[in-house]
Amino acid sequence: MLTPNTHPFTVERRNAIVGAEAQRMTFPAYRQLLDGAPGHDIFVAFQGTELCGLALWRESDEGGRRLLSVFTASVWRRKGVARALMRQAQKIYCTAGSGKLAAFWSDSLPGAEPLSRLLASLGWSTPALDCVRISANAQQTKVWSDSRRMERMTVRPGIEFREFGAVTASERAEIDGLLEAEGVPGRWRPFDPLVNVNQQLSLLMYRNMNLDGWMVVQNSGPGEVWFCSLYNRGLSTSAGALMPLLVEVCRRHHAAFGPTGRWRYNTGPEHPGMAAFLDRYAGEFADFHDRHLYSTFTFSGAPIATV
Ligand SMILES: CC(C)(COP(=O)(O)OP(=O)(O)OC[C@H]1O[C@@H](n2cnc3c(N)ncnc32)[C@H](O)[C@@H]1OP(=O)(O)O)[C@@H](O)C(=O)NCCC(=O)NCCS
Repeated sequence: MLTPNTHPFTVERRNAIVGAEAQRMTFPAYRQLLDGAPGHDIFVAFQGTELCGLALWRESDEGGRRLLSVFTASVWRRKGVARALMRQAQKIYCTAGSGKLAAFWSDSLPGAEPLSRLLASLGWSTPALDCVRISANAQQTKVWSDSRRMERMTVRPGIEFREFGAVTASERAEIDGLLEAEGVPGRWRPFDPLVNVNQQLSLLMYRNMNLDGWMVVQNSGPGEVWFCSLYNRGLSTSAGALMPLLVEVCRRHHAAFGPTGRWRYNTGPEHPGMAAFLDRYAGEFADFHDRHLYSTFTFSGAPIATV
């Protein structure tokens, strides 16, 4: 148990904790872990019986630890509670020889800026982009795309679409062979054996008979799809070459699922053009849009910026 000299609270590690306060201090998705779950640690700060703060960690596959949530009660904020919780965890994980520590968070959280400053003050790496996340409603997307008919978004002569469901097995094999020869990794090829692929909404886009790109759409929940990949073969040099494909998938999604249908999409820093497009426009058509960030801490010395 650690008792910081300057603050009248104590910090300890627990396997489980009960009570409404602890529940309130944890993201809803993680609350069931407070009952005690293998591979998870809970660090709590108490003053007497009053819970001042709570941090939840999970063991990662590589043996490191991932911070799932850290929260300080409002009246205890800016009194060093979160720093003490983090320091205690770092000390224990360092002694145990744990691997790298990592934290992921949304820049839309009210606590995002305090958290990144807290991590910086403890020697964690500068926050980096994990992915841009979008969640949108079919009707809102339609209103937006109908109202912004930019030339690059429209279907022009020479552009054609094919549903995955209409592509025969031999054609699939031929396309796969062509893309393999071109060096397109298996996970990016259109007919990679993903589960729950929506064969009507997933489309190949041809430009003047040439396969230009494709979009793979998965059914992910009732009334909801996941735009899981959008690939541009790079045959066209125009900016936003796949915009007509994206707009067409959204149009068909609206037709198939109705105005309340939802779609989600994530894109990472390896696609800076798409990330920049979403940063600029997503606020106009998506009802949720954030940047998912990460930071890491290594015990060997310098923090590193990869996960
Ligand atoms: C983020 C949070 C846990 C910080 O808790 P805290 O106990 O107030 O933080 P500390 O007092 O230990 O502050 C440590 C450092 O964090 C940074 N920090 C904390 N609050 C800050 C704020 N409001 N603005 C800017 N920096 C802040 C500062 O660098 C601070 O050091 P300093 O006081 O010497 O300048 C708290 O704001 C919180 O519970 N937010 C809501 C939950 C949340 O969003 N959690 C993060 C995602 S899991």
